[in-house]
Amino acid sequence: MSDDNVSLVIDGRAVSAPPTASIIQAFSLSGGALVSNVGCMGQGVCGSCRCMVRRDGSRDVTMELGCETPVEAGMQVAFVSYFQPKRPHVYDLEALTDSWQILDAMDETFPQAKSCRHCGGCDRACPRGLDVQKGVEYAVLGDVQAAREVFTECIMCNLCTLACPERIRPNHLGLFIRRALAALTLRPQELMRRLRQIENGTLTVDTSTVDDTRS
Ligand code: SF4
Ligand code: SF4
Ligand code: FES
Repeated sequence: MSDDNVSLVIDGRAVSAPPTASIIQAFSLSGGALVSNVGCMGQGVCGSCRCMVRRDGSRDVTMELGCETPVEAGMQVAFVSYFQPKRPHVYDLEALTDSWQILDAMDETFPQAKSCRHCGGCDRACPRGLDVQKGVEYAVLGDVQAAREVFTECIMCNLCTLACPERIRPNHLGLFIRRALAALTLRPQELMRRLRQIENGTLTVDTSTVDDTRS
């Protein structure tokens, strides 16, 4: 074990790891089994490795992604387990045939959004640093394009849902808006053309360059 290693505690386990290691890497190096709280393994896109972090000498707890946050001496880390939503949202995007319907559909599916108390809990919970509260506000005001921009980099870690006292589930509201706008927008030209070729059987695939020596 190197003298340069830093000591920290992850999920109650004393861990020693090089300072270049991420929290996830340090947990693994200490013999911890990565059976949960990991998905994309360092790409920062799946949100599985969400954790609460308290740094040495600080009373603040921050929400971070374990695969992106480097370890520090004296750090205390607790992973936040996956949880199933008790109240899944059900909506039919195919029933949305016109953008005039989007605000009514949003109100129907996310009636709690209007009750946002602007507590900022979702902003503090977001490991991506998104302006979540503003995204909810944009949605309530009907500016769905601006709301979509806020949630474009959301990784659905669900921490804002966990933090929200009004049970708004901001990330799911953001996902609904992104899906609805995509459903109502003209698809990319090349994608439309390629799907059409697949459907009518005119897509030709050149297999001459495929390496068939691989097992
Ligand atoms: S908006 Fe919510 S779900 Fe999305 S990254 Fe931020 S905390 Fe996670
Ligand atoms: S946590 Fe909920 S109530 Fe508080 S600002 Fe965010 S969306 Fe609004
Ligand atoms: S493991 Fe996917 S975001 Fe960290």
